[in-house]
This record gives sequence, C-alpha cells and structure tokens, in this order.
Amino acid sequence: MSEKDLSRRGLIFGAGKLAVGAAGIAALSSGGFGLLSNANAGVTPAAAGTWPWPYEKLDPAETAEIAYNEWYRLFCGGAVISSVFSQLKEKVGGPYKDFPTDAFIFLEGGVSGWGTVCGSNAGANIVTNLIIGPRIGGSETGMLMGSEMLQWYSEANMPIYMPKEPKVKEELPKTTSGSPLCHVSVGTWMKASGKGLKSPERKDRCARVTASVAYHLVELLNQWKDGKYVTEGVVPATIHGIPAQDNCMSCHDEVPSPPVYTPPPAPKA
Ligand code: HEC
Repeated sequence: MSEKDLSRRGLIFGAGKLAVGAAGIAALSSGGFGLLSNANAGVTPAAAGTWPWPYEKLDPAETAEIAYNEWYRLFCGGAVISSVFSQLKEKVGGPYKDFPTDAFIFLEGGVSGWGTVCGSNAGANIVTNLIIGPRIGGSETGMLMGSEMLQWYSEANMPIYMPKEPKVKEELPKTTSGSPLCHVSVGTWMKASGKGLKSPERKDRCARVTASVAYHLVELLNQWKDGKYVTEGVVPATIHGIPAQDNCMSCHDEVPSPPVYTPPPAPKA
C-alpha cells in the first residue's frame, strides 16, 4: 500500500473519523456552519407545517429489490427515492401521494451526468431530510443521517446487495471508492473491471449499488423509528473550514489550509 493510500485510509477510515465525530457534533450545536446556524433556524419542520413526513418501518431487502428494478427506469437517485416513497405511499399515503419522484431522474450520473455526488447518496439525503427533518442541534437531523450515508458509501465494498434476479447473472467485481462522488465511484469500478460506461455490467453494478444504498438507508430509518438510532454523521465543513469529503489526500498532495474568516470586533458599548 502506498503512502498516499495510507493517509487516505487514516483520514476516511481510521481514528480521524472518530476525532472528527466529536468535534463535528460540538460544531453543530454551536451552529458553526451556515446551513445549520441559527440564521436558518426559521426553516423548522414546525414552520413548514407539513414536514417532516411520517415513516413506517420497511423491509430492507424488499426496498433493495424495488431500488434495483427502478434503476432501470429512473437511475440511481430516483430509484432510491422511489424504493422508499412508493412503499410509504401505500402504507402511509398523505404527502407521499403527491411527491414527484420521477422528476429526480436528473440525479443520474452524479447530477445530469457531471459525476458529482452519486445520485443514490443524493436520493438518500432527500429521503432522510423529508422523513427526519432538519432539527437544529440535535442528534436526529436528517442531514446527519444523510452525512452518515455518504461516509458509509465511501467505505463500502460495492456493490454489496445481490438482487434475487439480476439482469447480469455473474458476480461483479467489488470496489471501495473512498468517495461519495459518482465519478470516483464509477471510475474506480471501471478501472477494476475493464468495463465501459455503456456495458450491461456497469449498468448492473450501478443498479446494485443503488439497491445497497436503499437497503442501508432503510436499516438506519428503522433504527431511528425504534428510537435506537445514534448518528455517526458529521458535517465536514464545520471541521475543515471548507466543504469537503474527509480524505483530503485523495486529491491533494498536502492538505491546504483554507483562509479563516475572523468576524470584526464587536462595537464598544
Ligand atoms: C475530490 C477531490 C478533493 C478532495 C477530497 C479535497 N479537495 Fe480541496 N480542492 C480540490 C480541487 C480540485 C481544488 C481546486 C484547486 C486545487 O487544485 O488546489 C481544491 C481546493 C482546495 C482549497 C483552496 C485552494 C488551496 O490550495 O488553498 C483548499 C483550502 C482545500 N481544497 C482544502 C481541502 C481540505 C482541507 C480537504 C479535506 C478535508 C480537501 N480539500 C479535500 C479537490 C479536492
């Protein structure tokens, strides 16, 4: 393993993650990051009235099957949303009946094919935020569960989930992306497998990744519904002074320090 690999591991897999955990929670409760600061406290579920939405526990494997099949219609992001919301539409009804899941087809290919965040992660974050809501300062925020999903995705040896009736019959190579980005995840896998973007294998790999994300998402949501969920999610921007995935060295040779904003001194009374 190269030095670069080691430092990457250290940051994303190792003690770094735990250290970041405590700091992240502290930063969260002090509202260090714009999106979670008190300035945004007006956007609460209570103010919105119809949000967050009710949740009933779902079967992870059934959800994963739906996600796998829906990938062939809506791709990664739409398929994750559909796998959860199509079931809640039946079990709960209400707001799920009007949710325009198909509109989220644009999450394909890391948002309109730009290889940014893998759509399955974006879809999972949409689901956690609609169901849990952006509660400020607590450990139950949809954003923190969404962040935990991004971290989990980065560390997972994908694809994990094997569908009951896969369109491609053989086992597919598994890779760990070290990143929640579509480009890095798909690229790492394409290099390992030698398969092109349009190959049936690459498509089935992404459908299985999508199913794996849906499975884990429902595991976490079920824990939360049972009152047993303790988040491992952090908001990296609160720790690093720049929004970033945690393993800086996968892109930088050395970790650059962002400029720090110092607020002007308070006027003297
Ligand atoms: C997915 C790749 C990627 C990751 C991961 C990443 N960066 Fe960057 N970062 C870039 C790119 C590309 C730029 C644009 C300028 C450059 O190449 O330095 C940049 C720019 C920056 C800059 C501003 C330019 C500079 O050199 O000061 C800072 C600060 C920075 N990154 C810090 C971090 C930190 C801290 C982390 C980890 C917490 C991190 N980055 C993780 C790709 C990445």
